[in-house]
Amino acid sequence: MNVHTVKDLDLTNKRVLIRVDFNVPVKDGLVTDDTRIVKALDTVNYILAQEGTRLVVMSHFGRPKGQKNSEYSMAPIARRFSELLGKEVILAKDVIGEEVEAQVKALNSGDVLLLENVRFYPEEEKNDPEFSKTLASYGDVYINDAFGTAHRAHASTEGVAHYLPSAAGLLIEKEVQFFAPLLNNPAKPFVAIIGGSKVSSKITVLESLVKTCDTIVIAGGMAYTFLKVQGHTIGKSLLEEDYLETAASFLKKADEKGVQVLLPLDHVGAESFDEQASPVAVDSVDIPDNLIGMDVGPKTLAAVEKELKKASSIVWNGPMGVFEFASFAHGTKMVAEMVASCTGTTVVGGGDSVAAVNTFGYADRIDHVSTGGGASLEFLEGKILPGIKALEK
Ligand code: 3PG
Repeated sequence: MNVHTVKDLDLTNKRVLIRVDFNVPVKDGLVTDDTRIVKALDTVNYILAQEGTRLVVMSHFGRPKGQKNSEYSMAPIARRFSELLGKEVILAKDVIGEEVEAQVKALNSGDVLLLENVRFYPEEEKNDPEFSKTLASYGDVYINDAFGTAHRAHASTEGVAHYLPSAAGLLIEKEVQFFAPLLNNPAKPFVAIIGGSKVSSKITVLESLVKTCDTIVIAGGMAYTFLKVQGHTIGKSLLEEDYLETAASFLKKADEKGVQVLLPLDHVGAESFDEQASPVAVDSVDIPDNLIGMDVGPKTLAAVEKELKKASSIVWNGPMGVFEFASFAHGTKMVAEMVASCTGTTVVGGGDSVAAVNTFGYADRIDHVSTGGGASLEFLEGKILPGIKALEK
C-alpha cells in the first residue's frame, strides 16, 4: 500500500481527526451488531496510547440525505463506543458550528469527541471543499480507518485528506493486506466463490477475478442466468434476460483463460418464493418448469468442497441461495463451514456472506472477515477506492 499508516506519524501531543465507519445496525436505541466499532478499536487505542493525543472521531450513520434527523443521531453509537472503549466518549452537539469548535478546543489529552452524523450536511456527500476544510480544522493530522466507506469520495473520507497530513488506520491497512494479493499475486490455487442474486451487480467482480483465479464458483440467484446460457432449463428461477449475452461472453473468456467455472450441479427448489415454501430436492442441473431454484444441492456442495480443500487462497462474496429463509440456508451454511475449515488464506467480504459467517458462528475461523460491503466488492472489482487513493504518499 503506497500510503502512510498511523504508525508512521509522530502523534505526540496532536489532535487526531479520525474517520471510522460506524454505520452499524441500530434497533430501539441499541447497536445490534458492533463489529465495525470493535474493529476500529485497535487504531483508536493505538492513537490514545501516544502521549498527549486527543481524538476527534467522525462517521456517517445511515442515509439521512443531508438533513438533521434524530433517527440518525450518533447517540446510540456513542454509547456503545464508550462501553467498548472503556472510557467516556463525548458526543458533539453537531458536525460544524461554533459549539462544536468550542468542544474541539476544550479537549484535553486522552479525550474522545465523536461528531454528530457527518451526513446531516449535504456538503459531506458533495465532497464540498469548504466543509472538508472545516472538518480538517479539528485536527493536526487525519487518519482514515473507514474501509467500509472508502469507496465514497465524500468530505470526511476524501476531501479532508487534502488539507492535513494523512495516513491509513490499522483496519484499512489490514483490509488491503488481505484483499490486494487476490488481485495481484494470490497463493495458488485460488478459488473465488461468488454468489448473490444478480449478474448485473457481480459481473464486474467476476471479470476482475477471472484474471487471477483458478476456479470460480458461481452460485445464488445469478447462477440461473449462466445455466440458461448453457442450455439448461431453469424453471421459474431468477433470470436476467438482458445479461444472457454478458454471461455467455464471461463463460467464453473464462474458458479461454483456462479458469474453471463451477455452476450448480443440483438444487433445492420451491414452488413459490416464500419463507414457508416446502423445499424440493432437484437432483439434476435442469430445473422443472414449476420450480424456482432457491439453494444449491449436495452434489454442488461436494464439488465446491473438493476445490476448497485444494485451495491456498479463497475469497467468498455472496450467498449460495436464499439463506435468509431457514429451509434454503443449508448451502450457504455448508459453504461457510467449508471456508472456515480451509487451510489456505480465507477472506470473506460483502454484507450477506459476512452476515452468514456471523450468523452460523464461523467468523473466528476465517482469516479475514471484511468490514466492507460495497467497498470490498469495489476493491475486488479492481477499482481504486477514493478514500485510500487520497492517502497516497
Ligand atoms: C456501508 O455500510 O456499506 C458503508 O457504511 C457505506 O454506506 P453507504 O452505502 O450508505 O454509503
